Amino acid sequence: MASYCKRRGLIFPTSEIYGQIPGFYDYGPLGVELANNVKQLWWKTFVQDREDVIGIDGSIITNPLVWKASGHADSFTDPLTECFKCHKRFRADHLLEDALSKAIDGLKKEELTKLILDNKIRCPECKGELSEVRDFNQMFSTSIGAVEGNKAYLRPETAQSIFADYKAVMDSTRIAPPFGIAQVGKAFRNEISPRNFIFRKREFEQMEIEFFTMTDKKNDCPCFDEVKSLKMNILSAVNQEKGISTAESLSVRQAFEDKIFSNKWHAYWTATFYQWYIDLGVDPKKLRLRQHMKKELSFYSAGTVDIEYEFPLGFKELQGIADRTTYDLTQHQNLSKQNLEYFDEESKKKELLYVACEPSVGVERLLLMLLFNGLKEEKERTVLKIVPKLAPYKVGVFPLIKKDLEPKSREVYKLLKEEFTCFYDESGSIGRRYRRQDEIGTPYCLTIDYDTLKDESVTLRMRDSMKQERVKISQLVTVLRDKIKKSIA
Ligand code: GAP
Repeated sequence: MASYCKRRGLIFPTSEIYGQIPGFYDYGPLGVELANNVKQLWWKTFVQDREDVIGIDGSIITNPLVWKASGHADSFTDPLTECFKCHKRFRADHLLEDALSKAIDGLKKEELTKLILDNKIRCPECKGELSEVRDFNQMFSTSIGAVEGNKAYLRPETAQSIFADYKAVMDSTRIAPPFGIAQVGKAFRNEISPRNFIFRKREFEQMEIEFFTMTDKKNDCPCFDEVKSLKMNILSAVNQEKGISTAESLSVRQAFEDKIFSNKWHAYWTATFYQWYIDLGVDPKKLRLRQHMKKELSFYSAGTVDIEYEFPLGFKELQGIADRTTYDLTQHQNLSKQNLEYFDEESKKKELLYVACEPSVGVERLLLMLLFNGLKEEKERTVLKIVPKLAPYKVGVFPLIKKDLEPKSREVYKLLKEEFTCFYDESGSIGRRYRRQDEIGTPYCLTIDYDTLKDESVTLRMRDSMKQERVKISQLVTVLRDKIKKSIA
């Protein structure tokens, strides 16, 4: 996947001419289009098309007290072990997962140390002895201005700007609970061992929503009926504790009754995202929901489920959806000494709102899922089957013969470029031009031939079915717009 992405201009290791630094990647010309399309579609679907979600775009560096209040300064750590001989550092749980070929979740550092000793695990690089496991804080730090010691952090999640701006959002809008505040933006984590291409990076992007309700109304979810019949593959905490690792198919209603979710909004948002991935063409057999066991819950969570995708490495977290309670707002209210309570006109109650759920997905993981899901090796071609709405280029425009047909082809290209991302290609056989576009997921290609000069029509060829149809140039924009719009259920 990494070599495909590099070859086709999707993703490159950053500043590679100086040697790679693990965990940092750049988007190439096609990658930036794909990532922008994903972010725009997420924003349109979950913010602009809804009445109950509004957005912000917070700063990456905030007052460092934000991280004191949130608990990240003290508790956002990964377990680290170091080789006494070569001094390489490893994430202890990942090292054990690789060595023992089983999931290692939620163990304390003492338990990890014991597992290393009991299983005689040595340094994977030089076979040296490994140190005791200790906590390593994942936040990147920097300093503000010319004054030394003015320490600040690059945010490790976008969520905290939402909590820190929450009062300003409440004061400047008339939004009332239940409502969500959304944000898409960069996050930074000094991962001990970033790995698996863009799956675990040190600089990445998150798309998050904090969904607020009154505490006693977290189960008043009028939208629940829209999703209650959806069937999901679910691996419950109870089953994992029994050592079961296969998911069962349950309806959202059944899963809610089985206490997989913390509240009805938690169930609703999880199901909404699960369905969205299916609408994006993701193979439902490769999706599952995994409930976190008590011992692996983050310090702020009363209940978390992950939507997982079956990557070639096995099922891995795509998106986390946590019930964050009033934890964050309580912490920020205490440390900032600002009153962050909401006054409910109807009940005359004043209270801190409850974060019934926080759906949080990384842009890169979503991209990686779409690429693994869509990239197919067929008999005569490599094709990226991605929903047209997300494809980097929507249309390829080809003159059959450059010499006579270039002016007409350029005219069609110019017409389409006003509305769609287009790629103009006049080199090589038509077959080769189709193959090049198939490999980067361009859903529609059109060829201008000698008949075009007579009948003002072009041949439109569909990427997935490879079927062709003749379309009048005057109708092209409408036909393509319609096909692209309908490409998502
Ligand atoms: N605000 C909650 C939060 O940040 P998280 O489970 O740590 O929760 C949410 O992260 C999502 O962000 C993950 O499900 C994943 O998609 C993405 N993510 C987290 N760490 C990442 C990393 N190092 N590289 C790429 N994506 C990451």
